[in-house]
Amino acid sequence: MAIVGVLASGRGSNLQAIFDAMDAGALSVKVGVVISDKKDAKALERARARQIPTAFLDPKAYPDRTSYDASVASTLLGYQVELVVLAGYMRIVTKALLDPFPNKVINIHPSLLPSFPGLHAQRQALAAGVNVSGCTVHFVDEAVDHGPIIAQTAVPVLEGDTEQSLSERILVEEHRLLPMVISLYATGKLGEVYKKK
Ligand code: GRF
Repeated sequence: MAIVGVLASGRGSNLQAIFDAMDAGALSVKVGVVISDKKDAKALERARARQIPTAFLDPKAYPDRTSYDASVASTLLGYQVELVVLAGYMRIVTKALLDPFPNKVINIHPSLLPSFPGLHAQRQALAAGVNVSGCTVHFVDEAVDHGPIIAQTAVPVLEGDTEQSLSERILVEEHRLLPMVISLYATGKLGEVYKKK
């Protein structure tokens, strides 16, 4: 069974969606470790509740991004992780994390990339006046919310939407899309889907 490592900085609802898909029999992977850059991330609690190993790696304890990422990578490798999933991970990643996992680091972002990368994607979408937004799962490179797109789901922007209402509508789709892409990986189909592009 493929071993997945999840990096998360916050509430971890996407991590929970992975667990829920596993429990429902829709996703056959093992989550080997959950790593956070935030000590109190709810994502860590969610993992602990399932007896999944966790690691808080404090960015302040490292001189630079590269050494931090080298430590993240070696932690992941220590748990035999092959696919790295960024699920609400609020750090820019460097080669030190990407190189040990070629084409095996993916991220979920709450917009239809390449529109609205970075923070507050839903606020950016509302400010731009788009009628459609959504979420994207993509391979990660060194730029923020950038890299080859794997899958997207479109979500309508409705009249009167607030940042919160749009975020909630997109989040429902994030929780479907991310486990689906991980499942493509687990069943050996991710390369196939990606090659077709
Ligand atoms: C999600 O909207 C994700 O797309 C973005 O950060 C948010 C994280 O939410 N990258 P959660 O921590 O998974 O609940």
